Amino acid sequence: MTSAHNRVAVLHGVNFDVLERRDPEVYGGLSLNELQGKVQRWARELGLEAIFFQTNSEGEFAEYLHRAPDLADSVVINAGAWTHYSRAIADALQLTGLPAVEVHLSDVDSREDWRRVSVFDGLVLEKICGKGPDGYRDALEVLVRKLGVSGA
Ligand code: DQA
Repeated sequence: MTSAHNRVAVLHGVNFDVLERRDPEVYGGLSLNELQGKVQRWARELGLEAIFFQTNSEGEFAEYLHRAPDLADSVVINAGAWTHYSRAIADALQLTGLPAVEVHLSDVDSREDWRRVSVFDGLVLEKICGKGPDGYRDALEVLVRKLGVSGA
């Protein structure tokens, strides 16, 4: 039995559909399905209901965020490269009014300078990066505390 207000939308942006083909030194070599499977298990353990979405289309990503308040109580967002320049996605995230945590598999703060910039600054509860898949578990824990979810 899970508590109310325990839904989390886990959103991936551009290039995550081919995650297993991206540099394994940077991204770990796992597929999006494998990553989502881990997140699903952690979410259940923590008493959260996870739903997943990925697109390579910025417009579709914004439209999903427009619907998000009807689908979820919170958001985990890894928008990939859009993180670093898409004010449109930032505006759409803000529009949801939902508590959100930003996650990156890699340590964006110790890579190229342009990856240090995040359009989600000031909009998210936390930015978690450089922890690989485990960063998603940390993000779910932040949301569990924020939503007051008591566990599965
Ligand atoms: C990423 C980091 C971004 O800079 C990059 O463009 C990605 C993946 C990550 O999870 O480490 O696509 O968001």
